[in-house]
Amino acid sequence: MPRKIAAGNWKMNGLRADLDVLRAIAAHQAASVEVLICPPATLIAACADLPLGIGGQDCHVSAYGAHTGDISAEMLADAGARTVLTGHSERRADHGESDAMVAAKTQAAYRAGLRAIICIGETLDQREEGATLSVIDTQLAGSVPDDATAANTVIAYEPVWAIGTGRIPTMEQVAEVHAHIRQRLADRFADGAEFPLLYGGSVKAGNAAEIFAVANVDGALVGGASLKAADFIPIIDALAATSS
Ligand code: PGA
Repeated sequence: MPRKIAAGNWKMNGLRADLDVLRAIAAHQAASVEVLICPPATLIAACADLPLGIGGQDCHVSAYGAHTGDISAEMLADAGARTVLTGHSERRADHGESDAMVAAKTQAAYRAGLRAIICIGETLDQREEGATLSVIDTQLAGSVPDDATAANTVIAYEPVWAIGTGRIPTMEQVAEVHAHIRQRLADRFADGAEFPLLYGGSVKAGNAAEIFAVANVDGALVGGASLKAADFIPIIDALAATSS
């Protein structure tokens, strides 16, 4: 069975004063749920010893070199990360990251021994045009490398229009896209049925249970509601309470 994952993406938030939040989250273990936070890179080393999964939010394709301001997958691993997000829609939009770039960054993650959480999702225009599933197909084909496995890769479906907006798709829409992703992975990879699939976009304590009840949803990638332990812990508990 795919493992359940409650992942937090802190984005460009978090100072050393906020390490207490990570300590509080780490102190709340739930059986059967992997709890993971992707803090800003500046905090990775400081929280690497906590009983909590730690991830980076992005990595460069190269291991090292003349790339001012960038960080490599090897550096994230060296600091204590075991996972990295690739292809988050904010990276795709703000930094012009193409599917090919996301695939290359994901390969860099594998090279460094990191698991990748590859993020995909449609914009509101694409959904309104009825293009959601074809966008998902293009992103899966282009962003997920051929050597992805259920052990080194997690797919996060994050509708761009649901991120940070308080809007979420209907549960039928989540079910449709997750079933579609599952089928595409099963078509392409021997262990495609085992890749953990996360939903992301305005997940909160109040909607987590209904999202986690949807077939093929193995957890969540949570932005705003992962910044406070009191907001994130109920999401962990809602995931732990799901039966599959
Ligand atoms: P949100 O962000 O939970 O604040 O909508 C999710 C994400 O961007 O991963």
